[in-house]
Amino acid sequence: MESYKLTDLCYYVGVNDRHKSLFENMIPLSNGVSYNSYLINDQKKVLIDTVESPFFEGLLANIHSVIGDAELDYVVVNHVEPDHSSGLLMLKRIYPGMQIVANKKAIEMIKGYYGIEDGYIEVKDGEVLNLGTKNIQFYCTPMVHWPEVMMTYFVEDKILFSADAFGCFGALNGAVIDKDMDLEIYYSEMYRYYANIVGKYGLPVQNALKKLSSLQIDMICSTHGPVWSQCVNHVVEVYDKLSKYEAQEGVVIVYGSMYGHTEQMAEMIARGAATVVKHVKLHDVSRSDSADIITDLFKYKGFVCGSPTYCGELYPGIASLLMKVETRGIKNRIFGCFGSFTWAGATMKPFSAFAEKMKWNISGTVEVKQTMSELQQDELFELGKNIALLTKN
Ligand code: FEO
Repeated sequence: MESYKLTDLCYYVGVNDRHKSLFENMIPLSNGVSYNSYLINDQKKVLIDTVESPFFEGLLANIHSVIGDAELDYVVVNHVEPDHSSGLLMLKRIYPGMQIVANKKAIEMIKGYYGIEDGYIEVKDGEVLNLGTKNIQFYCTPMVHWPEVMMTYFVEDKILFSADAFGCFGALNGAVIDKDMDLEIYYSEMYRYYANIVGKYGLPVQNALKKLSSLQIDMICSTHGPVWSQCVNHVVEVYDKLSKYEAQEGVVIVYGSMYGHTEQMAEMIARGAATVVKHVKLHDVSRSDSADIITDLFKYKGFVCGSPTYCGELYPGIASLLMKVETRGIKNRIFGCFGSFTWAGATMKPFSAFAEKMKWNISGTVEVKQTMSELQQDELFELGKNIALLTKN
C-alpha cells in the first residue's frame, strides 16, 4: 500500500494484514483486515492512530511518501487497543519530538502498555486543536469499543476519524474509498465485525450516534475497512439498527448433535420455519464458527437452539455458544429450544436459565427421548413455523 489522497491535506496511510488468521485470536479472518491510519499534512503534521507493530514499516513508508523527511508533530490516539497503538513506541523513537494527543484515560493506558512517560497533549471532550490552517476536534465516545475511545473530527474537511466504529473486516484490495470498490464483501464483514467486536456496546453506540448527529460528515475514516464517502448515511443506518438490536424476519437454528438425532430435530424445525420465512439458517455448533453464528443472531429475530444431554448438562459447544451470546447482551429475540436424551433429560433447565438471563420469553420447546415419534416430528415442525411467524411481526 502507498499513501492515498483523500482531500487536499488528508491521506490514507494504513496497511493491510493478510497474514493473521484469527482476529483477537478468536475470529476467523478469511478476507484479512486493514489497520487504517490517516495523515493530515497541514503546517502541523498529524497522524491519526498507528497500526499493529508487525506492520509498522509499512506505515512508516506511507508516512514518508507524504511528508518525506519532515518531522511528525502529533499522533492522535483515538483508541489504545494494540491493533492501533502498538506502533506507537517505534513511532516515538523515530519522531522523538512528536507529541501524543489523547484523552486522560487513553494516556493512562499508553503509559501502562508502552511506558511512554511524557510528550502528551491531554485533550478533553469537545476541545479543538489548531493545525495551522485547519482544525481537528475531539469527541469522547466511551465504550465504542473501549472506555478511552474518542473520535476526531477534521472540521474544515468534514471528515470523522471514527476509531473502530463503522469499521469492518476485510483487507483493502487496491482502492481505499467506497465509491471505487465492490462493497459486497465489506458490508457482509461489517455485520460480522459489529456482532463480534462492538456488539455488546449497543447503548454506547447509540450515545455516540446522538452526540455526533449534529456534525456534517462527508467522510468516515474508520480504523478498519474502506473509507466511507458515498455510503456515509448507509453505514450510520446500519450501526443505528444493529446497536438497537433490530433484526429482520428469519430463524437461526443452532444445534449440537453426536449421533444425528438432535440434528434430525433441527431439520424438522427448519422445515416448519421455511414454510413461513425465506431466511432460515442452520448451524451445527461443532462445524460453524461461533463468530458466524453470532453474526446471524444479530441479523435475524428468531433463535432456536438444540442440545443433547451431555454428562447431565448441555452439549459443551452449545453451553459455550450461549455464554458468548449472553456476553453480547443481544436483546429482543424470539427464542425456542429443543433437546434430546437417552436416559435423563437435562437441557431444558439450562435453556430456561439462559432465556431468563437474556430477558427473552421461550416461545416453544420440544424434548425427545432417544428418537422422535411422529407426534414429536409434528411438534418440531410447528415449533419452527411458530417461531418464524413471530419474527414476521
Ligand atoms: Fe480495532 Fe478495538 O480495535
